[in-house]
Amino acid sequence: MRRKLLLGNWKMNKTSAEAKQFALDTKELVELASKNNIDIGVAPTYLSLAAVKENADKRMIVAAQNCHFKESGAFTGEISIPMLLEFGIDWVLIGHSERRAYDNETNLKCHDKIQALLANNMVPVYCVGETLAEFDAGRTKEVVSRQIKEGLEGFSAEQVKRLVVAYEPVWSIGTGKNASTEIAQDVCGFIRELLREQFGAVADEIRILYGGSVKPENIKAYLSCPDIDGGLVGGASLKRESYEGLLTNIL
Ligand code: 13P
Repeated sequence: MRRKLLLGNWKMNKTSAEAKQFALDTKELVELASKNNIDIGVAPTYLSLAAVKENADKRMIVAAQNCHFKESGAFTGEISIPMLLEFGIDWVLIGHSERRAYDNETNLKCHDKIQALLANNMVPVYCVGETLAEFDAGRTKEVVSRQIKEGLEGFSAEQVKRLVVAYEPVWSIGTGKNASTEIAQDVCGFIRELLREQFGAVADEIRILYGGSVKPENIKAYLSCPDIDGGLVGGASLKRESYEGLLTNIL
């Protein structure tokens, strides 16, 4: 049985003081999630990770939005895995479409980051999804298939047990144009089949999230799909009220 997972991606939002306040204000929501066997968390900016980690309920998952695959070196502007672990951060988003679009994040780069995270017993949240042009051209499965195969090549079934995959069609992110539950389930089911081909029965243990204009009003419909185990939520995770709505609507 896969535990439900609700993860907020704050992107480039919130100062450290605002992030701390959110962490303090959501303690009882984390408690409520925990009582209902739901994993709940947020991915703040690097500068707010410590503030959230120190002030949130200890069961709150605190994820970084990126990391470098090397432990240290001449990589200006980057943050390494040991630096995250120093603050108790062991979840990291990898390959978010905004990083793929603006920071040249390729499947192979994602692969190296996931490899480094798995070697450190951390949890990568590997984001995949097609652009609007790819969707319109009917290439969704071809694109997602390449992202899964190249991003996860060579790992063992034991290693990928911890992995979380997030399907986020780029055309649905921040646009209010969320994918229908039929499309979301179809692609998430396809991803599980790919994982089964690549890793065998462990595919049934890997959590797959849907992301893209998820809101309190539509989250329940996504989570009632057999292959969708949770949501990766941008805009609606920023305010305590809508974050609460996301949780209470999936209890
Ligand atoms: P929105 O929920 O704002 O569409 O963002 C989705 C997303 O990119 C989460 O990673």
